[in-house]
Amino acid sequence: MTTTARQLDTADLTTRVRGMYREVALHPEHEFHFETGRPLAERLGYPAADLDRIPAAAIDSFAGVGYFLDLAAIVPGDVVLDLGSGSGSDAFLAAAAAGADGRAIGIDMTDEQLAKARELAEKAGIANIEFRQGQIEHPPVEPSSVDCVISNGVINLSPDKPAVFAAAAAVLRPGGRLAIADIVSAKQLPEGVTCDASLWAACIGGAMQRDGYREVIEEAGFEIEEVRENDRYRFISDRADNATRKYGVTSISLLARRREEEPR
Ligand SMILES: C[S@@+](CC[C@H](N)C(=O)[O-])C[C@H]1O[C@@H](n2cnc3c(N)ncnc32)[C@H](O)[C@@H]1O
Repeated sequence: MTTTARQLDTADLTTRVRGMYREVALHPEHEFHFETGRPLAERLGYPAADLDRIPAAAIDSFAGVGYFLDLAAIVPGDVVLDLGSGSGSDAFLAAAAAGADGRAIGIDMTDEQLAKARELAEKAGIANIEFRQGQIEHPPVEPSSVDCVISNGVINLSPDKPAVFAAAAAVLRPGGRLAIADIVSAKQLPEGVTCDASLWAACIGGAMQRDGYREVIEEAGFEIEEVRENDRYRFISDRADNATRKYGVTSISLLARRREEEPR
């Protein structure tokens, strides 16, 4: 199964996604189709005490869609991979939970996000974190080397979601966890929305219908353990809000576990 719309120009999409999230990294105070920053993180359920432990400038550029780190249940010693780590909020929280015996690796394709996250890690002297340039469809990470894959508000942006979940299964150790927040839709989105690269870049156009989304995860080799709605997430612009209402575009957090057998 593929989610690639026939007329979606994926090169244009990549350019727009990079352009949008470059702005989120460099000018988080600007207005976007979506909310950003600490007020959003707190409303989604991030404990204030946890946010206090990581660089504030990373949280300024937070552009996630839900809280899921309780589902991830990261313990000291875990190796955690954050797909689409942005300026690093979730990766920094994961590194703090994994402790000195564990570590977090963030992957992102937008140079300005990576540069910001790396600079913040260095300034704060956080040694157990690393940010790598790469695509979430084929992250530059050793197979079977990760305990927990996390991702927040990113997989909906990929035109090849099966590849993303297959890559997550490949890097996880058997029994490893996938804990994510993402955007899905109640109804299949029409081509007018799925072919609009600007609505994709705003985390709407690429939202997969929720049953199909679950199927893609299961087909990649996961058992889904929990799915919950993130009612506190909302889009801002009228255009985004209209599509959201019409097609039931919502945020979910999800926990899945990699099956013991090797993924195909
Ligand atoms: C909505 S932001 C979320 C960032 C971060 N997870 C957070 O919660 O703040 C999406 C991020 O995913 C990155 N991204 C989108 N598609 C990607 C892809 N195919 N490969 C790698 N990074 C991608 C963007 O560069 C951007 O930093």
